[in-house]
Amino acid sequence: MAKFLVQNSGPLQGEVHISGAKNAVLPLMAAAICTENKCKIKDVPKLLDVKVMTRILNSLGGSVTQVEDGVLEIDMGGLCRCEADYNLTSRMRASFLVMGPLLGRKGYAKVYMPGGCTIGARPIDLHLKGFEALGAEVIQKDNYIEAKVGEKGLVGASIYLDFPSVGATENIMTAAVLAKGTTYIENAAEEPEIVDLANFLNKMGASIKGAGTDTIKIEGVPSLRGASHTVIPDRIETGTFMLAAAITRGEVLIKNIVPDHVKPITAKLRECGVQVELAEEGLYVNAMDRRLVATDIKTLPYPGFPTDIQSPFMAFLTTVEGSSNVIETVFENRFMHVAELNRMGANIRTSGNKAMIQGAKKLEGAKVIATDLRAGAAMVLAGLVATGTTEIGEIYHVERGYEDFIEKFRALGANILRIEE
Ligand code: UD1
Repeated sequence: MAKFLVQNSGPLQGEVHISGAKNAVLPLMAAAICTENKCKIKDVPKLLDVKVMTRILNSLGGSVTQVEDGVLEIDMGGLCRCEADYNLTSRMRASFLVMGPLLGRKGYAKVYMPGGCTIGARPIDLHLKGFEALGAEVIQKDNYIEAKVGEKGLVGASIYLDFPSVGATENIMTAAVLAKGTTYIENAAEEPEIVDLANFLNKMGASIKGAGTDTIKIEGVPSLRGASHTVIPDRIETGTFMLAAAITRGEVLIKNIVPDHVKPITAKLRECGVQVELAEEGLYVNAMDRRLVATDIKTLPYPGFPTDIQSPFMAFLTTVEGSSNVIETVFENRFMHVAELNRMGANIRTSGNKAMIQGAKKLEGAKVIATDLRAGAAMVLAGLVATGTTEIGEIYHVERGYEDFIEKFRALGANILRIEE
């Protein structure tokens, strides 16, 4: 089993280049199923999750080729299977995103229940409600979902989401682009990854309006063509490095970013006293020699504070003066990192979906685990300012979602090693 060994590293300093977004590239790859022509996706991060999606597309009869560094050519012309392999889909939540495009193009899909981080029950009822509204018959068995479309094919519909689910919005959008007539997704997710997917589908010939707002209008078209697209920068990776600068009281220039996508993180760091400025080449984050104070955060769907940055931000809040409250409203089981941070000497109490952090605690190195992908990043941040050595287990979570994680941290002066045991 691989582990990270992290040591107190002093202020991180330097520049870091942000990779293409994990949560954007996976739905883009799945959307390539919508056409029999070749698509090209650029700025693809080297991640385990991308490899899994590659294998899923290959297993369906497609071909995914890396034509240059960071560029994938996806050819789903040979699509001949509509059943995604259990061993692959059970490993990653985003594998369920092949269901919408398969239904749209072939009228049939069978997908095993998706895996991924265990940060909540993570049901898929909203995805299925959407498929049914479009006219698909959905059969749910113990560990798989089968959906089929009758002779009429998918037909546009008005779909109201009880919660603005990112995955459901994406899955419904990729099914509806090839439906007959007009679909409205109301209370849709507004995340930048949704906008990126809509932009890609529109380049392919789809007609999607309103992505990035709570109402998305999709006029169905008979077929889509190939397109080329560059993935947006990863706003969660951006936030992670903003916090790396903040927690170590360092100074980091973060390149390849979209400032608007990290507004809530910027606002909250400024409230704590961290300098965050937009420079010509990127985002400049400076926490050197600053007196930093507590703040409260509440996670919400975009443009609210991102749930994926909750745990890294909490690690940072343990180091500032005063007490902070963190309220998690998106996932019901996203405080698993609290026990790990407390093991390192933090003083965090939880009650339901609220965590109370008593800050300015001296963290001490300990043996901890990455309880999920972002919690793993939080443990690394804590380890950078803790005394002694922090040993982090179960780092496969981190490697699923961050490109060149160790290398990027080390280039900023972090004392972090990956060891195999
Ligand atoms: C995506 C992101 C993940 C991020 C999350 C919220 C990807 C690959 N992953 O996950 O990193 O943390 O958005 O920003 O893009 N829900 C239902 N029924 C459904 C679907 C969702 O009740 O059918 C609930 C979930 O249990 C959760 C909430 O809605 O409580 C948000 O989930 P959702 O937005 O769907 O997240 P994902 O798409 O899984």
